[in-house]
Amino acid sequence: MHTLILFGASGDLAKEKLYPALFDLFQAGEKLRCIGFARTPLDEKAFRTLIHNAIRGQKKNAAADDVEKFLKHCSYVSGAYDQASIAHLKKHLTQLTATEHAGRLSFYLATPMDHTLIRNIVGGLMKNDLIDSECAIALEKPFGFDGPSAQKINRVLARSFNEEQIYRLDHYLAKGMVQDLLALRFANPIFEPVWNARHIERIDIAINETAGIRKRGQYYEQSGAIRDMLQNHALQLLAFTAMDQPESLQAASIHQEKIQVFRRLRLFGGQGIENIRIGQYRGYHEEAFVDPQSLTETSAALCLEIDTPRWRGVPITVASGKKMGSRSTDITILFRKKEYSLWDEMNHQLAQNSFHINIQPDNDIRLRLNSEFDSQKKSVHPTDLRFGFLDNARLFKDPYENALHDFFHRDQGIFLNAKEIALSWKLIDSVLRLIAPVREKILQIY
Ligand SMILES: NC(=O)c1ccc[n+]([C@@H]2O[C@H](COP(=O)([O-])OP(=O)(O)OC[C@H]3O[C@@H](n4cnc5c(N)ncnc54)[C@H](OP(=O)(O)O)[C@@H]3O)[C@@H](O)[C@H]2O)c1
Repeated sequence: MHTLILFGASGDLAKEKLYPALFDLFQAGEKLRCIGFARTPLDEKAFRTLIHNAIRGQKKNAAADDVEKFLKHCSYVSGAYDQASIAHLKKHLTQLTATEHAGRLSFYLATPMDHTLIRNIVGGLMKNDLIDSECAIALEKPFGFDGPSAQKINRVLARSFNEEQIYRLDHYLAKGMVQDLLALRFANPIFEPVWNARHIERIDIAINETAGIRKRGQYYEQSGAIRDMLQNHALQLLAFTAMDQPESLQAASIHQEKIQVFRRLRLFGGQGIENIRIGQYRGYHEEAFVDPQSLTETSAALCLEIDTPRWRGVPITVASGKKMGSRSTDITILFRKKEYSLWDEMNHQLAQNSFHINIQPDNDIRLRLNSEFDSQKKSVHPTDLRFGFLDNARLFKDPYENALHDFFHRDQGIFLNAKEIALSWKLIDSVLRLIAPVREKILQIY
């Protein structure tokens, strides 16, 4: 039995992602119980209706009986995150578990990542003896606003939990396609000999959205694209793409290799501002809660390099933008041309081989090859070998289902450790310092 205590149980993350994923896990046979906690006063019936609607909103075909069965395992406590309300939570838990063992406790912070709020929650759990060596805590980005604020959150958590009990989620890493990167790279020995500067000309990682900032002006004005998307999602995709083979599939080995990447990551050639582009979409100033003079970037691109023998000299661009032409997250690896090809004498330019991973929306991988379609003319044309995960629905799981599964089973492989976060902030803080004096000059309106 897994007992999940979900703080921020009335919020969007809980409704849009966590309840549907918990339902899927329950359907898959996990024995679990969810106790929601938030300030909004809700009786048991109202809370179950909230979950019912959240599941129905996402899973139109879910059988009513199955949803009802799941709801029987959900209950709610409301409170202001003070010690008295967490004492009330403990009492509720004790009553629930009088007849059935609680199993391991898993705490999930689906609340704003405010350092004081986290301190209150963790303090309340400590005071009420709810923290033991078996329990664990999960939280989602943003992990701070910069290096020092991330450290502050880490220190609060570290007072009560070991690093092995802290699950920092970047839900991009829970996407099947990202997980598949490990298999692609390390279960297929054909890739290893070409995965280096000798054979790879450049790597592009792009996370584009068609939407604007919606109503998140308050948050976004403090954040911007570099903090919101590059520091976490894009750099994590980079680490998975470029890291060396870990010693094992154990979380500690995976973290260790990602840390090696972050240690050596720098702006391309160790140079400055010419490797940074920032933009702002037209109309950003009219968005709610946005300063009409705002210089906040809604798109950004950094040209980076990993200063190791494997990668030195290979530009790795990480980019992200709102209100872009399409919604897509892609990793593109472009292979170098051969100096000489058999088709040169016919003046026939061969396409460069590339390996393209679409994390969303298509969830496919494409290997661009040259093929000879017309043996009489000897003409060669680029063609894509494609494998789509969406076409194989059984292979495809929701990222939050993956994340909660691993959290319950205490596998930290897809979660981030404190050192990775500190190192990625170190790079991003230095980029933001470089931009600060020239922000107005380099901000492009698009
Ligand atoms: N939504 C997503 O898809 C998503 C994706 C990635 C990361 N995240 C991160 O996950 C966390 C939760 O996201 P969310 O969109 O659900 O946030 P949210 O709706 O702003 O907050 C979640 C809940 O936390 C409670 N809350 C809000 N402000 C509070 C405060 N000052 N003190 C105590 N409780 C407060 C509210 O419940 P009560 O008022 O009932 O207490 C609210 O329903 C955030 O850190 C967010 O950045 C969210």
